[in-house]
Amino acid sequence: MISWRETYNIGVDEVDQQHQELVVKLNEFLDACIQQKGKDKIMETLAFLRDYTVEHFRSEEEIMLKYNYPEYAEHKKDHDDFVASVLELEASIQNQGATVVTTLKLNRTLTDWLLSHISKSDMKIGQFLRINNIV
Ligand SMILES: [Fe+2]
Repeated sequence: MISWRETYNIGVDEVDQQHQELVVKLNEFLDACIQQKGKDKIMETLAFLRDYTVEHFRSEEEIMLKYNYPEYAEHKKDHDDFVASVLELEASIQNQGATVVTTLKLNRTLTDWLLSHISKSDMKIGQFLRINNIV
């Protein structure tokens, strides 16, 4: 389980709120896996996580485009890669179910990716918007 920390805030309210919601959705998915809730329930929480992730990335990308963020292309690629890995994960759970091993592996992969993306890449958006007096 991930607990939200103040240090994850990038200083852009809209994005920070979405990140917190993303952590809630990720926790719900991890929880369903850990408790071995059954494939349907696990797939349902993963679908919520995927939909919310796509929606959140879109809104972050809109912000970057709106303010001509210089590292948009790289950032967008990170988002696209992550969505692709979530889709792969869905396919693998659909085919093989969520074993304890997959669960632990994905727990680490998703969590590490998200927290490192927020604290490195998203943080830079916050800095850029502050430097340019946008937030
Ligand atoms: Fe991002």
